Amino acid sequence: MKAIILAGGKGTRLRPLTYTGAKQLVPVANKPILWYGIEDLVAAGIVDIGIIISPETGAEVQAKTGSGERFGANITYILQDQPAGLAHAVKVAQPFLGDSPFIMYLGDNLVQSDLTIFLDEFKSKHLDALTLLCPVVNPTAFGVARIDEKGRVLQLIEKPKDPPSNLALVGVYLFNATIHGAIANIQPSARGELEITDAIQYLIEHNHNVEARQIQGWWLDTGKKDDLLEANRVILDTCLVTANDGEVDDSSQIIGRVQIGKNTKVISSIIRGPVVIGENCHIENCFIGPYSSIADEVALIHADLEHSVLLEGANVTGVRHRIVDSLIGRRAQIKEAPQRPKALRFMIGDDSQIEMIE
Ligand code: G1P
Repeated sequence: MKAIILAGGKGTRLRPLTYTGAKQLVPVANKPILWYGIEDLVAAGIVDIGIIISPETGAEVQAKTGSGERFGANITYILQDQPAGLAHAVKVAQPFLGDSPFIMYLGDNLVQSDLTIFLDEFKSKHLDALTLLCPVVNPTAFGVARIDEKGRVLQLIEKPKDPPSNLALVGVYLFNATIHGAIANIQPSARGELEITDAIQYLIEHNHNVEARQIQGWWLDTGKKDDLLEANRVILDTCLVTANDGEVDDSSQIIGRVQIGKNTKVISSIIRGPVVIGENCHIENCFIGPYSSIADEVALIHADLEHSVLLEGANVTGVRHRIVDSLIGRRAQIKEAPQRPKALRFMIGDDSQIEMIE
């Protein structure tokens, strides 16, 4: 069994962060989203992993993620020269996949589910495709399945205007080599992409064995700011381990589950977990509230924030009103507020600067 993880695409829904970086490398609880997928696959015993990259962000994904050694995996990088759809990505990966069955994992998805259960079922029932489903409130935004009482898939429709159910296709699929023949037989959709949904629909129409299972845990598609903040909240809630490798002075208070990285200094501040703070940060006269992730090299001085994600090298100084629900890009700077507005809500890109003046 092999796997491919899709880490291409333009990430338009996470702009402006994705003007300068890959959406799959945006951190959730200080770890790139993409890495959660790699870890899930390795935990299920799949170590031969192809990562599909784009010309724009491929080098960054490759430099950050490496050969796979740190995960106990063997990673091959596969260039998809244009964002021509999920089925197109499989086509591009065919030389890597050969005739092997494989899992396809969308690199901006987070799934809390043990993949081994689905793998075992896929193998023991000799399925051609197994899709994972999750009920959602907004099925028009996803691929949607109509299934019978035995879990067999009757129909799949991509972004339906009139959804036949609330069961969305989660971004994890299991296939055997028959999918390649199906992909060779489909045409680009209205949005100009070769849709994997259409390829699976082709398998169904040609009487192949396609089933679907509902996942039990959570599923988060991190493509947009609020989804990313929600993913951050869920991961901090469920996975954060308390640790202090930094220096916390006596006048600071650390409450609840807080992880502090090496060489980080916390001075006269209150940190109320769950909060993760990376390495080489300077936190002084701050309140950092629950569900915040602070990456490496961040400076926070006279700042008050919660439920926010700050990327590497961000700097917030003298902003005494609370920053909430915010995603602050790499090296972004927010400085000096002379008075206190009610609330602030940000989504600002890498290298942005916001100064509040009278
Ligand atoms: C893709 C798939 C869709 C699936 C979704 C899951 O959509 O086409 O069927 O439900 O991923 O994240 P896209 O992110 O390309 O809009």
